[in-house]
Amino acid sequence: MSISKAASNKVSSQNTVETRLKIKRLLEPTKVVSPSAGSDVVKGLTQKPKSLPPRYFYDNLGSELFEQICELPEYYLTRTETSILQQYAPEIAQITGSCELVELGSGSSTKTRILLDAYHQFGYFLHYVPIDVSAGMLETSALALLGDYPTLQVQALAGTYEMALAQLEPTSLPTRMICFIGSSLGNLNPQECDVFFSQITDALQVGEFFLLGVDLQKPKHLLSAAYNDSQGVTAAFNLNMLQHLNQRFEGNFDTTQFEHWAFYNETENQIEMHLRSLRSQTVQLHALNLSVHLSLGETILTEISRKFDLNVIQQELKAKGLVPQRVWTDSNQWFALLLCQMQPSAAV
Ligand code: AVI
Repeated sequence: MSISKAASNKVSSQNTVETRLKIKRLLEPTKVVSPSAGSDVVKGLTQKPKSLPPRYFYDNLGSELFEQICELPEYYLTRTETSILQQYAPEIAQITGSCELVELGSGSSTKTRILLDAYHQFGYFLHYVPIDVSAGMLETSALALLGDYPTLQVQALAGTYEMALAQLEPTSLPTRMICFIGSSLGNLNPQECDVFFSQITDALQVGEFFLLGVDLQKPKHLLSAAYNDSQGVTAAFNLNMLQHLNQRFEGNFDTTQFEHWAFYNETENQIEMHLRSLRSQTVQLHALNLSVHLSLGETILTEISRKFDLNVIQQELKAKGLVPQRVWTDSNQWFALLLCQMQPSAAV
């Protein structure tokens, strides 16, 4: 073997995927059933009107269906946000410089690559900290990224946003940017949103960054179509929550006895997604010791997806000390990307 080949092998062996990837698991393995597991399901199904937490959408099939939703012609959100990111990622990289990129709900990290490419283009260092409840998804997408970006370091955190944000360690890079794209903020109600912003500000130092993607208010027919697609993928995604609950909590929901119902609530400026009972029925979730009666036509709220007014969301962020430095939208003003910077609390 020539010296240069041996030397290059040495470099690559020091730079292996194992040395560049760390996954910290903050959640118990799903097989371990904690005493509080499912308490949110019991609470939602025993209150009036009934509801279920949207986090139960995302078992393996649900995550796959969500990826399919992002490709649907009616679901403009992903395409529009991607085009904004493609246009402005170089500007984002130039503003922050080398940084630790913390991504909440990273999923398949598809859009992240646009940012990684921009930082790479300017020669900035980047540590990537993806956060997701699914350790499997984190591992798969991190391995793919490490293969494509040979100098990237990934420190993944498998857990809820709350747990992971509270566990962030000081970064060795000059700054940090927490990234929450995809308009997942819209799935939080105003109170949850307020708590979430406080978790973000607790995790940031003065001068650090928060990149937020939000879906904006627009004509009702466009919103309604995005959540009632013609191929029925969103309906399958919604109904799959019941299958997931069946598997997880020994349930007997019959998905043929429910239908997907989504509409735009103009008073609250939010899409509401429900499952409507097609008959009077009683369902059991044996592992939770729960028996639930649903009357004909009764609905279970599974998700809200709030649509934002750009001025209002900017004011809310500012009030929290997250001051928007740049706001980018698409030509239709359907979606916005906001790059905020954490201000000293005295300035708030
Ligand atoms: C994840 N979240 C931003 C999606 C949304 O549009 O609110 C979830 C979704 N629900 C139905 N389609 C997509």
